[in-house]
Amino acid sequence: MARVKKQFVCNACNYVTARWVGVCPKCEEAGSFEEQLEDPVRRGRSANTSPAAEITSVQDISRNDVSRIATGIGELDRVLGGGIVPGSGVVLTGEPGAGKSTLASEVVIQMARLGQRVGYFSGEESMHQVKMRLERLGLTDADEIGMSSEVGVERICKSISTQGFDFIVIDSIQTVYSEDIPGTPGSVSQVKESAHQIMRYAKQTDTSVLLIGQVVKSGEMAGPRALEHLVDAVINFEGDRREQHRILRAHKNRFGTTDEVGVFEMTSSGLVGIEDIASLFIEDSQGLPGSCPTIVIEGSRPVICEIQALASPSDLANPIRAVRGIDSKRVQMLLAVLSSRTEVTGTRAMDIYVNVSGSLKIDDPGCDLAVALAVASAVNKRPLNHQAVAYGEISLLGLAKKAAQQERRNKEAKRLGYQTVATEETVRVQEILKQAGIVGSDS
Ligand code: TYD
Ligand code: MG
Repeated sequence: MARVKKQFVCNACNYVTARWVGVCPKCEEAGSFEEQLEDPVRRGRSANTSPAAEITSVQDISRNDVSRIATGIGELDRVLGGGIVPGSGVVLTGEPGAGKSTLASEVVIQMARLGQRVGYFSGEESMHQVKMRLERLGLTDADEIGMSSEVGVERICKSISTQGFDFIVIDSIQTVYSEDIPGTPGSVSQVKESAHQIMRYAKQTDTSVLLIGQVVKSGEMAGPRALEHLVDAVINFEGDRREQHRILRAHKNRFGTTDEVGVFEMTSSGLVGIEDIASLFIEDSQGLPGSCPTIVIEGSRPVICEIQALASPSDLANPIRAVRGIDSKRVQMLLAVLSSRTEVTGTRAMDIYVNVSGSLKIDDPGCDLAVALAVASAVNKRPLNHQAVAYGEISLLGLAKKAAQQERRNKEAKRLGYQTVATEETVRVQEILKQAGIVGSDS
C-alpha cells in the first residue's frame, strides 16, 4: 500500500515543501505553512503496474449540449450564463454581510418551486435562523426544502445520495470538515478536501451544488484559490454591506462568459435584481471640477458611471495616490501622461484621489480619457465646459484613440441624452483638454 506522506502547503500561494518553514520562499508570507497529507494516488503506483487509461474515439462521444435550469433570479442567471447546469458546482464568495446566504436562500426557494429536490446545509447559522430568513424571503407552506446543520462532509455526502437531492447549498464550506484529515474546519486542507468530496459525490449523482465561501479581510477566500479548480464557476459579490448595490461577477465560468455582471439591491424583502442599470451609477455632480462621466461596457450592457477626482496640495515627499474602483497603475500612467504630454502641471506636489461612482469596479481602458479629464479638471479646478460623457484609450505618447465598442457607447450616450467627448480619430489629449476648457485661456 502506498505510504501517505506529510507535506506543508503555503496558505497564500499553495507552495509545497517537505519540511515546515516559517517564511514562504515563494510569496514571502510569514507563518503561512500548514500540514497536509500528500495525495497517495499521485505517488506510489508506477506506470508499469497501473492499468492503461481508457481511450474513446472523439466521434463516439455524444454531444452533450449543456442544459440549464433558469433559477428565475434574472441577474444570477445572467452571470451564470443562463442558469444552473445540473451536476455543476458553483462557489459564491463575498465578504460577511454581502448577501450570500440571502441569495442562496432565494435560489433554494426557486429551485424547490421548479420541482427540484433541494437541501440547505447550514453550519454557519442555526436551522431556526435559516428558516426565519427563508420566511422573510417568501417561503410558503408548499415549499419543500431539506434542512440540515450537519458539518461532517462524509455525512453530508451520504445524504446527497440517500435523499436524492438535485440541488444543495453548503453555507459555508469553511464550516465543513472531514474526520479523515488533520486541521481545523476552515483550514486550507479541510476546505479543499471537503469541497473535493462534495463535488465528487455531486458529479456522480448529478446534483448541483452551491458552495458558499467566506472571504477574509484581504479579499481572498480562506484557502486562496483552493476551490477554484474543483468547481465549474466562481461568482463573487463585490462591495460590502455598507453599499446599496451588490454586484455579482463571475471570475470563472466553464459554461459561459465571465463578462456579465448581475446587479442587486438589498431590500427588506431580500435581494432584488436591477435590470436597467444604465444610469444606476451616475451621481448628480456633473459640472463640478473633478467630475467626468463615462460609459463602460459590462458584459452585454453599457453602463454610465462617473469618474471623480480630487487634487489637493501636498507636503509629502511621496504625495498620496488613492484610487478606488479602477486599476491604480493605469491611473499612475495617466498622471504621467498628463504631466509630460499636456499643460496639466503641478500633479507632483498634489495628493490625488480618484474614485468611480456607485462602488463600481471597472476594468476597461476605454475610460482612460474620462480619468484624464477628471484629474485634469480637479488639478486645474475647472469643470468640463459641456455636459458630456468621455471615453477613449490613451497611449504613452499622449494620444487618445477610439475605445473598444465605441459605437455601442455612442448609442447609449445618445439614448440617455448625453453629448460625447470621444474621438473617432487619434487626437492629442492636450487638444481634448483645450476643447473641454480645462487648459488654455478662459474664453
Ligand atoms: P446575509 O445574506 O446573511 O450575508 P452573508 O451570508 O453574505 O454574510 O445578509 C446580508 C445582510 O442583508 C444582512 O446584514 C441582513 C441584510 N438583509 C436585508 O437587508 N434584507 C433581507 O431580506 C435579508 C434576508 C437580509
Ligand atoms: Mg451567511
